[in-house]
Parts: sequence; structure tokens; C-alpha cells
Amino acid sequence: MCGIFAYLSYFVEKDRRYVTDTLLKGLSRLEYRGYDSAGIAIDGDGETETVIIKEVGKVSALRAKVDGSELSWDKKYSVQTSISHTRWATHGQPSPINAHPHRSDDVNEFTIVHNGIITNYKELRTLLTNKGYSFESETDTEIVAKLLKYVFDSQRGQHISFPDLAKAVIKELEGAFAFLFKSVHFPGEVVAARRGSPLLIGIKAVDNQTADFVNVEEIVNAVAASSINEDKNPAYAKRAQSRSFARPDGSSQPLEYFLASDPSAIIEHTQRVLYLEDDDMAHITNKGDLHIYRLRRDDGLSSIRSIKTLEMELAAIMKGNFPHFMLKEIYEQPESVVNTIRGRVDFNKHTVVLGGLRNYLASIRRCRRIVFTACGTSFNSCLATRAIFEELTEIPVSVELSSEFLDRKSPIFRDDVCVFVSQSGETADTILALRYCLERGALCVGITNTVGSSISRETHCGVHINAGPEIGVASTKAYTSQYLALVMMALQLGEDRISMTERRREIINGLRELPNLVKEVLALDSSIKDLSQTLYQQKSMLVLSRGFQSATCLEGALKIKELSYIHCEGIMAGELKHGPLALIDEHIPIVIIMTMDAYYPKVQSALQQVRARKGDPIVICNTDDTNIDDAVVKTIRIPHTVDCLQGILSIIPLQLLSYHMATLNGVDVDFPRNLAKSVTVE
Ligand code: UD1
Ligand code: BG6
Repeated sequence: MCGIFAYLSYFVEKDRRYVTDTLLKGLSRLEYRGYDSAGIAIDGDGETETVIIKEVGKVSALRAKVDGSELSWDKKYSVQTSISHTRWATHGQPSPINAHPHRSDDVNEFTIVHNGIITNYKELRTLLTNKGYSFESETDTEIVAKLLKYVFDSQRGQHISFPDLAKAVIKELEGAFAFLFKSVHFPGEVVAARRGSPLLIGIKAVDNQTADFVNVEEIVNAVAASSINEDKNPAYAKRAQSRSFARPDGSSQPLEYFLASDPSAIIEHTQRVLYLEDDDMAHITNKGDLHIYRLRRDDGLSSIRSIKTLEMELAAIMKGNFPHFMLKEIYEQPESVVNTIRGRVDFNKHTVVLGGLRNYLASIRRCRRIVFTACGTSFNSCLATRAIFEELTEIPVSVELSSEFLDRKSPIFRDDVCVFVSQSGETADTILALRYCLERGALCVGITNTVGSSISRETHCGVHINAGPEIGVASTKAYTSQYLALVMMALQLGEDRISMTERRREIINGLRELPNLVKEVLALDSSIKDLSQTLYQQKSMLVLSRGFQSATCLEGALKIKELSYIHCEGIMAGELKHGPLALIDEHIPIVIIMTMDAYYPKVQSALQQVRARKGDPIVICNTDDTNIDDAVVKTIRIPHTVDCLQGILSIIPLQLLSYHMATLNGVDVDFPRNLAKSVTVE
């Protein structure tokens, strides 16, 4: 998914090499989001010049193009603004022309980067074409650059400020966006705006430790365009109260800003960040002052934006000694499950307290039903925990794919509780489903890994899974932590049911053992790697089970197909004879998950049906299962735990298998083709 990064410096000398290096490093931190091309726009040699360099492929390809350019590297800036972008193609093929930054004209008067989609771009493109503008790219974004120039030129010499201009342009746009605007007409200035796509500002100043917020202002000097008349009414105009980071004596201090789609690109420069809210527009002036305005009339949001201290460490987002983030993240699971549980489970009293839900328990318990909504792996974590949720709470639970749920416009009522599960907290389909449910008055609960994400902020309450940053596109440790967070939520909700006391004790004891059991499963890695040698050249595979392990089949199959590019289907064993049995022969590779729970006899019968048709499955079973003869059947033996937690252990061999099959197939596992970590468009 597209990533935005900008670097602005004031009253501190920076040379061009430093600026381009900072941009390229920022972009490389965003690589994990998935992208196909990248570009930068920096100040040129003259004050009113902007240079754009764009390239298809990885940031390293862009770096090579920057290094090979004619730029003079001894250029020094005392003030400079530069913007950059990684693009994930939606409108138009990956190509240098379609890559961002986009420009208003061939002398780069306005340059912009964009994350999101402008849905009315065709109408605007037609309008601008009729006014004599021609377009070089196929993107929706380019119309915004052209529109900036059009509105600017139509002022015919009258002064218009950069934020007024930006607001007039954004008023015409429909869709979702995070934008950065730069212009040769406003040297040293940048306008940033968001609606639906994340954007945050990192601030690095010598003396800014005491400034912990920025006021939200109304734009006072509105552009003479009918579209923003509301701002001409002085009743709405508050006194401008910018947050100036000048020294107390008024002198200018060295100041740097880093704007980005997510904190991983900022954290190495500064821990002081400000998250923009939807419909916020930030203006950084040529003096380095930061102003925040609203793009819409106010709606009860706070009138300040606080500057927070990020606690994420860069080391946490680096690969360590692992060849890939994905492998590192699989191996982090003994710690990530502890982090999800830490401080929330009392193993002596056998109680669970999720701080974020405490004030909402009564409302949730009163609800008519619970609707889980998510995409991809997060959806599978919902499926994996539905049974235990219903068992412990006695509340009916339905599980919805966000996109399907929205397509269906499913009825939602005030007495429903809707739970939105998302690692990133930024998945567009899930955010839209959340907004749909908010409008209908349901209580909305978030389960997310990203503090400060849209889902975390827009839900009434929720649980941060605390799994730490997950960079590999294929979700692994977030899955096991989401799974755990949902089980803990069910335990907490069900705490008033006396009849379930023993069951809750059993599960909570299981939670205590879990981190060590995860380590035991990881110790199987080398044998799973050997197994992958026999499978990676296959064209198609099946993963089969039922009951508590149904979701493991779907999640395992998803991992295998998204990483190894091998067709793989997760099959509920109860459905075997209703169709999939026709696929079984001595050739098709099959994995059967047959752990010791109430469904064991039924899965065993599926195993027999498969073997009767010459199938030779690999069976994931428990270490203490004596019914299976390892001399006859290939097995992966994992430790036995409580039925409803077993899926946390049984998914790990499939995560490892998909990882090894993918690397044997030469796939860049952290960035599988056509996929993105965070899908912020519908
Ligand atoms: C919180 C702190 C944690 C601290 C602990 C001490 C944060 C982010 N967490 O953790 O650092 O150690 O108290 O008691 O400050 N929320 C949503 N939607 C979501 C996720 C969360 O609205 O999708 C809300 C929760 O309702 C809660 C807040 O965000 O109000 C923090 O949630 P969470 O981090 O899960 O809470 P604690 O575990 O209590
Ligand atoms: C993308 C990712 O498709 O989004 C998946 O590639 C992920 O790994 C899915 O499961 C949902 O993302 P999130 O952030 O909402 O959990």
C-alpha cells in the first residue's frame, strides 16, 4: 500500500546528499507496506525549482537513479522541503510516469504525493481537460496537482495562502486521502491533509520538549471561491494560535519535521509525533511553524492535537539475525503471546482484566449478538475463536468478511456489539464496516495491534494486542495474538457465569503454559524445512480438519497460497464427502490437523477416507497421541493444550512450512507479489 514520507528542515544547514538519503531511508522503512514504484521531489538549485525523480521497482532502484542523476551534490539548504512516496498501483500500471510525486505542469509548480483514492477523478479530469490541461499519467492523483495550479492561476495575482488554496482544492475531491503538497510558489512550506488514510508528523527541535500540543485553528483568510463560504463568517474564525517552535526569546531554532504514513519511518529521527485526525490539514510555514486547520466544520473533536512520545524502538522493526521479517516474527511468538497476556491475566485468581473493555462489559453482556468483522488473517482469527466465544458468553456470534458485510448492507442495530479485528487498524474495508456500524448505533469494539490507528481511535473501546510491529506482509504473530486477545475477551465477558468456572480455570491454566509450548513447536523447524523440500514444487495442496481446527486449515492454506504461490485450500472435514473427496488420489499433497479434542474421532474418519483413496497425508497431531503409527503415517507432533488454544500451536508448523516452501520457490516472503501489508483502499 502506498507510503508517504517527507523531510523538512529549517534554520539548520543540510546538504542535498543528506536530504535525499533521509528520504530514501524513510521510504525504505515503508517498504513493508508493499509497493511497486517510488519517487521523490526535492528543492532544486534555484529557490523556485523543484526536481522530481521517480523509478519503478524497489527503493534501491530509485536510489540508483538518484545517484546517477545530474544533481549537484554540493548544494546546501538552510531551509528545504522534500516529499516522497512509495506507490502501490491502483489506477494505471507501475511506471515512472504513474509513480508519485505528481506535478501540475512541466516546470513542477505544484508537486504532490497521495495515499488513497479520488473517486470523482474522472469528472475532474474531464473538467480540467476542457480548460486546456493535459495529463501525463493514468492516475487519479495527477488531477489534484493540476487542480492546485488551476485554482492558484485563477486568483490572477491576488494573494492566496497555501492552506487556503489546498482547502479550496480538497473541497472538490471525493474519496479517501492523505496528501502532501509542495509548491515553488510557497517555498519552505508544505501542506498535509488526511481523510481516511493515516498521516503523522514527527517533530525534532532542540527546545520543543515542553510543547506537547498544537491548537486546531479555523482558516481565517478564505480563498474567494464559493466553495468555502462558511469560513468567511467571522463567527467561525477563532484567533490564530499556531504552535511555534521558536525559542522563548523569539529566535529561530534548528527544526526538522518528518511526515509519514506510519511511525516506522519517523522513529529513528524523533520520538515526538502528532497524529492528524481525519479532515485535519497541517500547514508548515517557511518559518517552520506548524498550524493545524479543519477541512470541515467542527464535529466535537478536541481543539488540540497532542504531541505524543512514541515508545516503539527501531530495533523492534529491524530484522535482527533473521533473513526475513516473517521468520523473525514467527520466532517472536513465545514473546508476543506473553506480551498479549501480560498484566491482563491473574493466574492465581484465574481472572482476566482487559483494561480497555472494563467500562463496557455490562453493555456487551446485554447485547443481542456479537458481529466479528475483519479481512484476511484477522478474519481467520475471528473464526478460530467463535466457538469458545459462544461457549463462554452464550451470546450468538457471527463472523463477517468486511467487504462482503458492506456489500450486503447487513442490518445492524443499537443492541448489537460489533468487533473489528485488524492488525494494522488501517484496513479500508474494515474501517468502512466500522463506520457503517457506528452510524447505526452499535457498540463498536476494536482488536488491533496499532495504537493510534484509525480503528483504535474510532471504536468505542477495544484491546491492543501488543504483539509488536509486524512487517512481513503475511501475518503470523499478529494472528496468534489476535486469537489470544479474543479468547481473553470471551473469558472476561463470561466471568459472571458460575457454570463455566472450571472451564475458565482450565483455559487460564492453558494460557500460562502457552509460551513454553510455542517454543516446543518452533523446535520442529528443521524437520518442517525438510518436509518443505518434498512439497515446494507441487501445484496444489489441501489442508483438512474440523471443529476448533477449521480456522487453522483456512489460515494455513492462506499462508501457503500467499507465500508459496501454490494453490492451497482449507477444507472442513465434514464437507469432504460433499465434494472435495473427488480431488483425493495418491498425487495431491494433504495436511490433516488431528489434535486430541472432541472432534478427534471425526477427523480420524476423514483420515481413513483419505487413506482409502491412496492419499498419503501429513498429519499434525499431538505428541501424546498413541493412535497414530509414525512408521505408517507422516506426522508433525505438537504439544497438547486446551482444545480452544490448540489452534495457536497448530498454526505454527503451517507458518513455517509456508515460509520454507516460499523461500525454496525463490519468493521474497516479506513482500509477496501483488500483496500489501496494509490495504488502505476498498
Ligand atoms: C493501557 C495502556 C498500557 C498500560 C496499561 C496499564 C495504552 C495504549 N495502553 O493498556 O500501555 O500498560 O493501560 O493499565 O495506553 N481501544 C479502543 N479501540 C481499540 C483498541 C483499544 O478504543 O481498537 C482503547 C481501549 O478501550 C482503551 C485504550 O484504547 O481505552 C487502551 O487499550 P489497551 O492498550 O488495550 O488498554 P490496556 O491493556 O488497559
Ligand atoms: C492484507 C494483509 O491483505 O490485509 C494480510 O496482506 C492481512 O496479511 C489483511 O491479514 C488484513 O489486515 P489487517 O491489518 O486489517 O489485519
